Amino acid sequence: MKVLSVASEVYPLIKTGGLADVTGALPGALAGRGAEMTTLIPGYPAVMSALEAAEPIHMLPDLFGGSARILRGKGKGLDLFVLDAPHLYNRAGNPYLGPDGKDWPDNARRFAALSQVAADLARGTFAGYAADVLHAHDWQAGLAPAYLRYLGGPKSLITVHNLAFQGHFPASIFGALGLPLQAFTIDGVEYFGGVGYLKAGLRCASAISTVSPSYAREIQTVEDGMGLDGLLRERSAVLHGIVNGIDIDVWNPETDAALAKTFSASTIDKRKENKRAIERQFGLKQGDGLLYCIVSRLTEQKGMDLVAAAIGKLVTTGARLAVLGSGDALLEGALRDAAASYPGLVGVSIGYDEKLSHLLQGGSDAILIPSRFEPCGLTQLYGLRYGCVPVVARVGGLADTLIDANDAAVSADVASGVQFAPVTQDALEYALDRTAALYTDPQGWRSMQKAGMKADVSWERSASRYASLYRSL
Ligand code: ADP
Ligand code: GLC
Repeated sequence: MKVLSVASEVYPLIKTGGLADVTGALPGALAGRGAEMTTLIPGYPAVMSALEAAEPIHMLPDLFGGSARILRGKGKGLDLFVLDAPHLYNRAGNPYLGPDGKDWPDNARRFAALSQVAADLARGTFAGYAADVLHAHDWQAGLAPAYLRYLGGPKSLITVHNLAFQGHFPASIFGALGLPLQAFTIDGVEYFGGVGYLKAGLRCASAISTVSPSYAREIQTVEDGMGLDGLLRERSAVLHGIVNGIDIDVWNPETDAALAKTFSASTIDKRKENKRAIERQFGLKQGDGLLYCIVSRLTEQKGMDLVAAAIGKLVTTGARLAVLGSGDALLEGALRDAAASYPGLVGVSIGYDEKLSHLLQGGSDAILIPSRFEPCGLTQLYGLRYGCVPVVARVGGLADTLIDANDAAVSADVASGVQFAPVTQDALEYALDRTAALYTDPQGWRSMQKAGMKADVSWERSASRYASLYRSL
């Protein structure tokens, strides 16, 4: 079975968040399960320079305003189709945003082109390849199922990694899409008078999935459906919640070269050296007290305003905090100010640093994730695997992937983290108190770390679920 995966980012070639981790790991996870996955990705500079042995398989003289080539090759171990369209993708930096931090003004064309080429590839337009199933990720690939539905081709699956990003554009783009007129209806790509790329995918794909069972339920409610709940409820029979796994080779505390000291479940004490390295890098006082980390986009989704507000409480429980992240300028500023108010107790590093993110997981005692909504979340999974206890809001995938340290779970030795609800400053502060109390019992804490490190966070089960979903299509 040939599956064409279509995405706007894929680890380790280009990554802004968890989407890349998932699209990067899924092809390998499917190997041996009867699904052969090739990934179509835009030819950003970072992708072009990582390509090995690439061959052009087709030329397109005019793709949304310029000429383009489809290349087939390998990049960092992945089987790829690359859409080399310099007028659309030859821009350094973030794949979605210009240097001014705003969306590229031609994003409607950039990702319509990706989706159109995906559909063409899938239906066998170019000699030598056709897919049995097309797997589209998020709004950037959302039009691909629409092209298949209106112009013919195989069945498709669309995965929602985050309903907050919908790719909603003015109706004026419709003429350029090459879709038949009848596609511009509520039953097609039309959305509040414009064109909705994610909406189009949700309407036109043969099946829909999202990245945790809880999020699959949440997005069918008015509160969390972000305007698409009606459509999702209507399609609930083909809506699946499949929790993400992680790449347990990239994230392996026993071999991780980014750590100051590697460790396993039976040598958890060695984590201390990583803690010392974090203290040095973040200018924190040295000590064995509770150290939290945050590795995150700094946005409201991630509850970073709540963290800024609760920092006073955090330090009064005797804890320290190291933050690695970037995003919203206001939140970056609020966290920087907090660090300045608590020198030696709070350290903030603004930026994106893959290596440092591993060290933080390998040396902090706990990772704080107070998201307002979280489709799946990967950093709590890395935390579990690295003995870094997740302290999380009980939403989406954060609700599904760990067991709260309530009394029953603690006595049964199965607790692997701390969950709180609702997502408010009060509840977060209460969770900080609970966590500090748990930390005073070294044996209990150790048992939480071990429960996490034992949890199956690999792709095993979920890859099988994707494979059977493809087969059913
Ligand atoms: P989202 O995709 O919503 O941002 P996830 O938890 O699914 O959230 O995935 C985030 C991914 O990005 C993880 O791999 C995390 O380690 C990584 N990440 C986020 N911010 C940073 C950062 N500043 N530096 C390094 N890695 C980061
Ligand atoms: C999105 C979500 C995150 C999820 C990731 C991968 O970025 O915000 O929760 O883990 O996609 O599916």
